[in-house]
Amino acid sequence: MTPVTTIQHLSDHVGHDVELQGWVYNTRSSGKLGFLMIRDGTGIVQGVVSSQGVPAEVFAAFETLTQESAITVRGEVREDQRAPGGYEILVSDLEVHQIAEDYPISPKEHGTAFLMDHRHLWLRSRRQHAIMLIRHEVIRACRDFLDSNDFVLVDTPIITPNAVEGTTTLFELEYFGRSAYLTQSGQLYNEANAMALRKVYCFGPTFRAEKSKTRRHLTEFWMVEPEIAYCDLECNIGWAEELVAYIVRRILETRMEQLKVLERDVGRLEVIKTPFPRVSYTEAVDILHKAGVEFEWGGDFGGSDETVISEQYDQPLIVHRFPAAIKAFYMKRDPEDERLVLGVDILAPEGYGEIVGGGQREDDLQVLVQRLEEEDLPREVYEWYLDLRRFGTVPHSGFGMGIERVVAWITGVQHLRETIPYPRTLTRLEP
Ligand code: 4AD
Ligand code: MG
Repeated sequence: MTPVTTIQHLSDHVGHDVELQGWVYNTRSSGKLGFLMIRDGTGIVQGVVSSQGVPAEVFAAFETLTQESAITVRGEVREDQRAPGGYEILVSDLEVHQIAEDYPISPKEHGTAFLMDHRHLWLRSRRQHAIMLIRHEVIRACRDFLDSNDFVLVDTPIITPNAVEGTTTLFELEYFGRSAYLTQSGQLYNEANAMALRKVYCFGPTFRAEKSKTRRHLTEFWMVEPEIAYCDLECNIGWAEELVAYIVRRILETRMEQLKVLERDVGRLEVIKTPFPRVSYTEAVDILHKAGVEFEWGGDFGGSDETVISEQYDQPLIVHRFPAAIKAFYMKRDPEDERLVLGVDILAPEGYGEIVGGGQREDDLQVLVQRLEEEDLPREVYEWYLDLRRFGTVPHSGFGMGIERVVAWITGVQHLRETIPYPRTLTRLEP
């Protein structure tokens, strides 16, 4: 029996026969020789079919193949420096499972809207394949980093009665006669979990009804959110920057091949190291002014402001201590300046914008109650959250890191829609 293997493991089989199960990426032939790019989900390899080396029916089968036809191929694995990937299959047998209909995505250029409409097929392309492998590795790195540092994964609910990040981006749904929301962040539950398990994280899809069309906003995105009891802003910044640096190192160690497919300038990633540079919000405003950008202290940075600020650095940039008015109700006041809260963002280099948002949480019951009132939030649904300040309140902090923003930065992809398998945006619900 010929062993069944996958393209990623071909190096274990040089000089021997294997069986590959896959799809036709493309074919070409020059008379007696047929060339067949085989894709199997783990990689792409070239198969060579010689009309003299195989039975006539095998060569005839080769000639019927269309792009994305499903096939099983048997043949000897050969090392070949000139072949893409370094290996080649000398095909001896070919089994056709299905001859694919006219495949809509050809090697010629297609517009993004067309490709997005065919996202379910587009994922098979080399570039999308590379992005998805890097996404997987980013997620794995997050888990490995947190797990190995004694963080406990505690899942938080998707359906919730309360807002976390303001009320303007809530997705509302009818919940058995009352209204509920899709979660914007697991943070509030994370805070409860941290009081029970000390260092925790949640990791799941989060939802925001973002009504603006930008390349940095999805309506459904994945966020990893660590939360730590007995941890102040400084401690929080330390965890956030170590996580980001760990992810970059991991991708450089394991996904160089995919970064090459994406033509990523890896030099920009290789320089990343902690501690990251830091500026306060107020200093960031100065940077904008020096760059000639009109900006009034107290406002929120837009995407283009973030780009101007972060372009001054080749490292991710830590921005801390924001005006209270632009941040969520739960952020702790800066004891040294009443106008500020102890929030922190990390801006990715190269104009990729905010990848991390978090800070120290308000731990005083009275201040928190007052903040809820100021924000006009309904106290009833936050009573459980206020309990955390009634029963053993301590300084605590946490942050959320958007997976798609990190993947965009690391892969060098310009638009968030390519960093998630099935993007959801203001204008896209299908496929
Ligand atoms: O800064 P944000 O809104 O912070 C929170 O949600 C906190 N409650 C997290 C916490 O402290 N546990 O969002 C965190 C990150 C952003 O830095 C960004 O990376 C990502 O989530 N993000 C988005 N990603 C894609 N599309 C959107 N619409 C996003 N909104 C936020
Ligand atoms: Mg933010």
